This record gives sequence, structure tokens and C-alpha cells, in this order.
Amino acid sequence: MTVLPIGDRIFEVGASHPERQLFDCLMPTPHGTTYNAYLIEGSEKTALIDAVDPLKTDVLMNNLKEAGVEKIDYLISLHTEQDHSGSNAAVLNRFPMAQVVGSEKVREMLATHLNFDPDKVRVVKEGERLSLGDKTLQFTLIPFAHWPDNTMVWLEEDRILFSSDLFGSHYATPKAFATSSAEQRVAAKAYYAEIMMPFRQQITRYTARVRQLNPRLIAPAHGPVWYNPDLILSRYEKWTGDGVKKLVTIPYVSMHDSTRLMVERLAVKLSAQGLSIICRDLGQQPDSLSLETGHFIMDLVDAAAVILATPTVLGGPHPNMAYAALIANAVRPKARFMALIGSFGWATQVEKVMESLTGNIKAERLPSVLAKGLPTEDDWSRLDALAADLGARIRGLPNLIE
Ligand code: FEO
Repeated sequence: MTVLPIGDRIFEVGASHPERQLFDCLMPTPHGTTYNAYLIEGSEKTALIDAVDPLKTDVLMNNLKEAGVEKIDYLISLHTEQDHSGSNAAVLNRFPMAQVVGSEKVREMLATHLNFDPDKVRVVKEGERLSLGDKTLQFTLIPFAHWPDNTMVWLEEDRILFSSDLFGSHYATPKAFATSSAEQRVAAKAYYAEIMMPFRQQITRYTARVRQLNPRLIAPAHGPVWYNPDLILSRYEKWTGDGVKKLVTIPYVSMHDSTRLMVERLAVKLSAQGLSIICRDLGQQPDSLSLETGHFIMDLVDAAAVILATPTVLGGPHPNMAYAALIANAVRPKARFMALIGSFGWATQVEKVMESLTGNIKAERLPSVLAKGLPTEDDWSRLDALAADLGARIRGLPNLIE
């Protein structure tokens, strides 16, 4: 049980889930996660912002007990997804006088996703205020950060922004506040990659808005509270901006080493031009697909180029590569260049299949290099030409970032 004070009569009372290894059956969470719920005790009314994942309902209820909560006037739902609203029913069962408060979209989605009676939701509009006495909450709609219903709430007197999933991270820690540790930075980046990157245009606008608001604290729905908001805002500004790093990410699969040799050659030639190269082996171990694809998706936040390297299996890409390509396509990275390399046994349709899997990636396509069996001298030459061309193009980009 943990009740973490984050301000004057403001507590984090949600649940930590350090043993969670995978989120959305997709995203590796090596540091687990948290489902944050915030209790705000005003002079007249008490509000609970969000509940927790149903797996951790008991933790939330115990925390509310430990905090000595005798009444909740408002259960404020910033987002309907089950990791934040899944234990609403338990909260309402314990505090039946609590009024559920949410946007029109939250109201609609609570009905469709949790069979909650929409007539019991008090709807708040953009900019609307809710008084707790000496504390005032103001609502801001942030659709598609990352669901249509996401909402932020601003605690005016304390200058705390409760940002829903936005600015979150899958990072379980017994402490309330974030540090500047590399581990926490990587967790926030991985979270941005999978959850927020597909909505980069919207997230750019919301980040600018929050920067203007100048909060004292940012309290997201996952991970630690940002005690120094600039830590996360400056990263979001970089991640959502148009700049890319001199970085090439190469996810690859190799069954009999032909593709691996090509990846190594390309990596050496690119690296000799001063570029950073990350190679992700999607097939080395039973859990490589999940873990390395997760890392690859994070690379896509600021990589200038992506090289997909795969052998041909039954005419198309190795299924592990198809999996990685499908996710990369879904998160819509800002990579400027993309190419396909790999080997095949006797015939291949891999270019056609890969193109059909990556239509959302707007990167300029460079010529593929596909070798029949072990690469020949001609294949090595084509690979070297690809490296030279790609290196020159990246170095010539106008908006490179460190
Ligand atoms: Fe953390 Fe979109 O729920």
C-alpha cells in the first residue's frame, strides 16, 4: 500500500505493477508500470482523478483506506481505457455518492466499453471549471493522445497538470517523482514511441500548449510525476519535431547468415561515414521478437533511416520481419529514408510484400539489395553503393539533431 503526497492535500493513490513485463500484449515493460490515481482534497469537495487497472483494484481501495478517505464527491475519468477506468465500479461501490465526471467522449466510451450508464456521467466541456472549494480543476480535451477521449485537468491553485496518458512512462518506482536517470528517460521514450508517436501532429500541439501553461508539476497516468516538467517537455519537443538523428536502425532476421553478413557490411560502411547504427536481431532468442521489435520501435522516434533486412521465406519476408514492419507502419515514424536488403533462395516477392506492409511510412525508398544465396561481388558493390548514397543523403539533411 502506498499513498504518495505530491502537494498540499494531493496524493497519488494508484497502483504499482512492477512485475508487468508486457503492455498491450505488445510493448516490453522491463520496469513494469503504474496506474496512477490522484486524490485531491479541497476545502469542500474531494476528487479522485482516474481509477486503476482491474488487476490492481484492491491496491487502490486499500490506498484510499490508508489515506483515510471517507467520501469522494467526484470520480474524474480522464480516459476510458481499462487500465484507468476498469476499477471505476469498485470505487463507486465503496463511495456510492461519488459523481462520475468526464468529457462527452468519455461518457460515450464508458457506456460502450464498460457498460456504464451514460446518464450518470456529469459532462464537462473544454475549458470548464469544477470547484472543490479552495481548489479548482479546469478541463482540456486532448483527443488522440492516444484515444479520442483523453482529457487533461489543470489544478489552478497548485499549478499541477494531470495529463492522462500524455507524458507517461511504463516505470514502476516506489517514489512519486521522476529523476533525470537514463533508465527513466528511455522508459518515457519507449512509451512515446508506441503510444504517442502515431499521433505526432496532435502531440506537438498539446506539448506546446502545456509549455505555455508552465506547470509546476506534470502528473501523468503512468510512471513518475515530473517534478521538473522541462525534463519531459524538452524531450517531447525533440521527439515530435521534424529533426532526426544521424541514426540508421536495422532490424534484421537471418536464418543462414547471408542476410547477417549484408547487415554487418552495411553497418560498417555507414558507420565509417560518421553515422550511428543500431542493428536489432529479431530472431536470435525466443523472446527476441518482442524485445527487439520494442527497441526498434523506440529507435524510430528519431532515426533518419530504416533498413529492413530479411531473408525470403515462402516467397515473402520472414514472419518476424513482417511483424516488425507492421508495427513500424502503424506508429508512422518520421524516418526520411528506407531500404530493403536480404537474401533469397530461388525466387522472391519480398519487395512487393514489404511495400504493402509499410505504406504509411513516408520515407523515400532507396534501391533494394537482394542477394541470391550468399552475396556475390556484385551484391557487395550494390550494398556499398547503398551505404554511400544513404550516408550522403543523411549528412545532407537540413534538420539533424544530436
Ligand atoms: Fe494508460 Fe490509454 O491507457
